[in-house]
Amino acid sequence: MSKRRTAVLISGNGSNLQALIDDFSDAEHPGTLSLVLSNRAHAFGLTRATRANIPTVVTSHKGYTSREDYDAELVRILKEHQIEWVVLAGFMRILTPIFIEAFPNRIINIHPALLPSFRGLNGPAQAIEAGVKIAGASVHLVSPEMDAGPLLIQGAVHVRADDTVDSLKKRILAVEHLILPKAARWACGGRIALHEGGVSVNLPPGDTQSIFLNSL
Ligand code: GRF
Repeated sequence: MSKRRTAVLISGNGSNLQALIDDFSDAEHPGTLSLVLSNRAHAFGLTRATRANIPTVVTSHKGYTSREDYDAELVRILKEHQIEWVVLAGFMRILTPIFIEAFPNRIINIHPALLPSFRGLNGPAQAIEAGVKIAGASVHLVSPEMDAGPLLIQGAVHVRADDTVDSLKKRILAVEHLILPKAARWACGGRIALHEGGVSVNLPPGDTQSIFLNSL
């Protein structure tokens, strides 16, 4: 069977992209990374993609008069590359319905918080501010409401008494690198089923939809 053509959208360092590159390099992987798209020309993730021989496109949001016009251009590029799954891995843009409706239930996002807590920007800072003792990351299908689509997998970590936003961010990032590739594999492998009111994953043996990273 042909592999599912997957695009990763980034804005920065791309450490999650790297975790995906490493996982997709497995010959048994049901997907292939066909495109990395960045809205920032200097995103280090572009270098990671080039090293892995993945085509890249930079499309700056600057110069577009509306979010919708920008999103329409992104959709055009993704369709041109025959993309089937879209992974948002640190893409710092809010998507409009034009984008979301072009890939219905075919977009997954990584968010650095245990949703539905701490939606929006800077999940780790919100967690520190709230004084929670467990934090983490979530991968979900993208729906029109921001950070509110059905959850696919969550990864939790301790919040330590001496944590700063930066130290917690690093620990959360480590769990992101475990859960995002898993969700992308399930997506490409046709394991995500949508029902009325929810989503279920036909889990491969040994996989779970929750991880606690106790070692850090
Ligand atoms: C991650 O924390 C992700 O959850 C958030 O942006 C960060 C991207 O990190 N949306 P990287 O570019 O993958 O290193």
